[in-house]
Amino acid sequence: MNLSELDSRLVALREKAKEVRDPTAADETLEYILRLVETRKPQKILEIGAAEGLTSCAMLLCSDAQLTAIECDAARAARAREHFRLFGLEQRAALCEGDAAEILPMLEGGYDLIFLDGPKVQYRKYLPDCKRLLKRGGVLLSDDILLFGWVRGEPPKKRRMLVEHIREYLRLLESDAELQTEILELGEGLAVSIRL
Ligand SMILES: C[S@@+](CC[C@H](N)C(=O)[O-])C[C@H]1O[C@@H](n2cnc3c(N)ncnc32)[C@H](O)[C@@H]1O
Repeated sequence: MNLSELDSRLVALREKAKEVRDPTAADETLEYILRLVETRKPQKILEIGAAEGLTSCAMLLCSDAQLTAIECDAARAARAREHFRLFGLEQRAALCEGDAAEILPMLEGGYDLIFLDGPKVQYRKYLPDCKRLLKRGGVLLSDDILLFGWVRGEPPKKRRMLVEHIREYLRLLESDAELQTEILELGEGLAVSIRL
């Protein structure tokens, strides 16, 4: 789906979020995700690090899926709930407010699509739960895995620790025999892993 086909209110909310530097998926990343949603028609979606729920809303508006969104920031979680109401999606969206590390182990599996976009240093920790929660043939999308080219290049000193976490996460993804992973240079990098 082209982003110009999105509900104009959602386009405006995304623009506003970018202006105030509130995080949301890059345009090209969101376009890729929406194309994936349209072709794969997931019935159950999980978003880890949902912020104001703008990507969640976009995925729900172009599918008939049920979605679980995890967000630890209370103000963002409240806005996500407002956005679900605004677009009439509250019956299909469940917001879990809190730390993903505590919420993920409590979720039951069967997800067709997981969008992992929470704290990058925690990706490794979340991976076993993501695999447990994902159906065979399901897709795990991990966002921001190239971080301004730092992951494949030379990071600034201050960012070395973060970059090492991501490099290790990528090694885990790429060496996992149960996942088939491709790295796309969209936004700050998107890993697309299919659960075999
Ligand atoms: C990059 S933003 C998410 C953007 C969102 N996925 C979108 O596309 O609109 C990352 C979000 O993860 C949330 N977050 C950070 N640490 C978290 C944690 N431990 N558990 C749950 N959410 C967390 C942040 O509050 C932030 O809203």
